[in-house]
Amino acid sequence: MSTEQYVERLLGEDADLARVHQTIEQLGMPEISIAAGYGRLLTMLVRMSGAKNVLEIGALGGYSGICLARGLSDGGRLTSLELLQNYADVARGSLEAAGLGDRVEYRVGDAKESLAVLAEEGRKFDFFFIDADKESYPLYLEWAIKLANPGAVITGDNALLHGRTIDPEKNGPSVLAMREFNESMVSDERLIGTLLPAYDGLAVAVVK
Ligand SMILES: C[S@@+](CC[C@H](N)C(=O)[O-])C[C@H]1O[C@@H](n2cnc3c(N)ncnc32)[C@H](O)[C@@H]1O
Repeated sequence: MSTEQYVERLLGEDADLARVHQTIEQLGMPEISIAAGYGRLLTMLVRMSGAKNVLEIGALGGYSGICLARGLSDGGRLTSLELLQNYADVARGSLEAAGLGDRVEYRVGDAKESLAVLAEEGRKFDFFFIDADKESYPLYLEWAIKLANPGAVITGDNALLHGRTIDPEKNGPSVLAMREFNESMVSDERLIGTLLPAYDGLAVAVVK
């Protein structure tokens, strides 16, 4: 048993999160939801930071959406950006089934365009979870900093790309983008950040 399996056994899986995995399997969607241990961490970080407005980039079936929305206090809102209408519909169904439907708003389309619209609307956020197309992570980070309230938390999943990030032989666009994202998360002067190396790596930073 790996250390991650040990943690997952301790955490278990409640009915709402289990339903997301079942739905994803039934619909033949890719099973690339965030790992259970990091899902719990997202809930904790949203709660600990007192975030009122949370932005997610990449909804899939709503697993991380449930984790983020669970951390919100009353009146808090999750805005979730998803490329595909059918995935956004599945995610919405997952949050509704979990009793969290009133806390979430989905915006469908390329997140780069949705982010520009949010900026035009003057929206600001206290917490960001980046988990969409990996080539765009550096761009998403710039948008997050632009849309951040002071002290906002920025998180990004798949920082290790299943080992490709640290493999000098791998230099494709996703890998190069992820290295740039990781470097910025830990050393950009506007941020205080680190990388958590469990699972597929989670980058976490706070905006100064
Ligand atoms: C890793 S999955 C998200 C998993 C989800 N955050 C979770 O943990 O439950 C990545 C998602 O990003 C979406 N996506 C990919 N490119 C995108 C883009 N340019 N704009 C918005 N969403 C995108 C995909 O359709 C997919 O649903």
